[in-house]
Amino acid sequence: MITCGIVGVTGYAGLELLKLIEQHPTIRLEKVISDSSAGMTLSELYPWLQTGPKILEPFQADALDGIDVLFLATPSGVSADYIRQLASFPGVVIDLSGDLRLPSGLYETWYGKPPVTETIQREAVYGLTEWNRELLTKAKWISNPGCYATAVSLALLPFVQHDWIDPAHIIVSACSGITGAGKGLSEKTHHAKSNENVQLYKIHAHQHIPEIEQTLFHMGGTEATVSMSTHLLPINRGIMATITVQPNDHVSEDEWVNRLQNAYMDEPFIRVQRGEPEIKSTVGSNYCDLWVYKEERTHRLTIVSVIDNMQKGAAGQALQNANVRFGFDETLGLLNQPQYI
Ligand SMILES: NC(=O)c1ccc[n+]([C@@H]2O[C@H](COP(=O)([O-])OP(=O)(O)OC[C@H]3O[C@@H](n4cnc5c(N)ncnc54)[C@H](OP(=O)(O)O)[C@@H]3O)[C@@H](O)[C@H]2O)c1
Repeated sequence: MITCGIVGVTGYAGLELLKLIEQHPTIRLEKVISDSSAGMTLSELYPWLQTGPKILEPFQADALDGIDVLFLATPSGVSADYIRQLASFPGVVIDLSGDLRLPSGLYETWYGKPPVTETIQREAVYGLTEWNRELLTKAKWISNPGCYATAVSLALLPFVQHDWIDPAHIIVSACSGITGAGKGLSEKTHHAKSNENVQLYKIHAHQHIPEIEQTLFHMGGTEATVSMSTHLLPINRGIMATITVQPNDHVSEDEWVNRLQNAYMDEPFIRVQRGEPEIKSTVGSNYCDLWVYKEERTHRLTIVSVIDNMQKGAAGQALQNANVRFGFDETLGLLNQPQYI
């Protein structure tokens, strides 16, 4: 049994982690940390969860004795500030924000905020679990991947690793449910604007673009150029990334599916499907569903990747990484099926 703390437990990802950890057999929730709601009890905050009287505390780096793993479910910039204060914290830190994902220069360009120290950033292990297990088992800082980056990288890595596609021409059209933007309101996420609407945002400027390119390089061994347009859907959860690529091999669609199935044959959370892709097939679960279509007329391939942004795209993968880091069965607490309906 190990102990954990969650920082930012009033946010969407923090709540998702809380729900998952409440059901986890070998991780005990020891501290719930919240700057905005310190002093309240969890049961006041979420009466429907019936979590008991645990009191929310403000973040204090020197009050974390006995915590084995601390999850930071806080916005970029805020995580960086906490990480600087956690330099001598003896436990493991899993950060769900973008603050540990990119080297300083790239981080400043894409996030426009002061980076964490270069030493900490270099030490951080990128937590795309399926592709980095060995390093994760020894990590002190774990950088949990972004939601779009998870969906897109899991789909593309086998293709770039085996040189199956032209890495210079990768076009991604990705869409996300509204929880991807966190609980704060903005004009775009306001109900009147988001409901019954599909909106573009950060077109070709999303901060997950350099993260994906870096992942394809470090884990797939290929320098790739990714164009990505991002859309907000009028649904709560889920991401669908539709990726168009130019294949190097001219094999049948069946053969492409077989190749992808072989690549992920032993992965408990990656399901390569032959059926119609839909967001609901993963929402409420830690699965990533992949499809590949061959377009006979243009010889292009369309790869589709679907995840729940709150689970495989955030809290679920963070827990998967904690399982790997502490030597537990990777699927512990995570094998629930999608809600579907
Ligand atoms: N939502 C997703 O689908 C998703 C997917 C992948 C990654 N992430 C990342 O996970 C982190 C949390 O995302 P989220 O969607 O849960 O965000 P959120 O709903 O906005 O919650 C963030 C929480 O962070 C805490 N916080 C501390 N200082 C803050 C500040 N200055 N401004 C705003 N919040 C502050 C707040 O909790 P307290 O007041 O309780 O401290 C707040 O509830 C972000 O870095 C996000 O990029 C989210």
